[in-house]
Amino acid sequence: MSESAQARRPMGRVLPHELPESLREAGLTNWIREPLDDAVDRRRRIIVPPAAATAGTPASAYLSALLSEAKHPDTIFMMGDNPALPKMPERPCLKDFFLLRFGKIPRTHLLQSARVARERGLDEKVIMACMLHDIAIAGLLSANHGYWGAQMVAPYVDDEVRWSIEKHEALRYFPDQSVGYSYPQAYIDYFGPDYRPPDYVCREHEAARRHRWYMTSRLVTINDIYSFDPDVVVEFDEFEDVVGRNFRQPKEGLGFDGSPVAHMWRTMIWPNNFL
Ligand SMILES: [Fe+2]
Ligand SMILES: [Fe+2]
Repeated sequence: MSESAQARRPMGRVLPHELPESLREAGLTNWIREPLDDAVDRRRRIIVPPAAATAGTPASAYLSALLSEAKHPDTIFMMGDNPALPKMPERPCLKDFFLLRFGKIPRTHLLQSARVARERGLDEKVIMACMLHDIAIAGLLSANHGYWGAQMVAPYVDDEVRWSIEKHEALRYFPDQSVGYSYPQAYIDYFGPDYRPPDYVCREHEAARRHRWYMTSRLVTINDIYSFDPDVVVEFDEFEDVVGRNFRQPKEGLGFDGSPVAHMWRTMIWPNNFL
């Protein structure tokens, strides 16, 4: 680099150097590594995607090429705050995850679902469950999201709320005409008209129907509306009172209270950590 180019380079940026051809050919240059302009400490940071995100895709074949990148002296693996993400407060609360980690579509989906439940005059447990039912999709993992989501909130909500979040995943696939719930058109669009849920989901549904909290979870599915209208705005603050009464926010912050699920919240704070 010429002296004048060196002089123009803003502090904190690092020189680009070519990625191996294998990574470029796989189209992974943008997805896996943050842009070089975001580099901090004058070092490049490699983001290695988790196995759950790449299994079954071509990206899974490029792990060794990514690992080799760390041999460059100006390159390390991502640990701690990713400059591409908004910084979380030291003691994050539920609202921080909604605003700083969840994408607009899942955030709006959750808040809209809670708003519909509230407008229908439903119990606060149902409103709270609606507001939380897909938080695993919003911030962690989509597969088995009902179970992940239920575990994430278990220490902080009433057990009925936890249970209804867990079971909504299975109940979504099964109509209940007695309360006017039909198989979702969205699932026909998403999975095809011939999709049948696996046996374990069928068993979960059967067991849930006999449970005393069945209707709480069923109400989550009824209010689980698939409205992704970008013009609809629902603010988290609309539910500040419901959250205050139904979500036991730990004073140390979510992720740092030493609970059995703290690691799940930390994973959402630092989703790109190598370890
Ligand atoms: Fe869901
Ligand atoms: Fe949902």
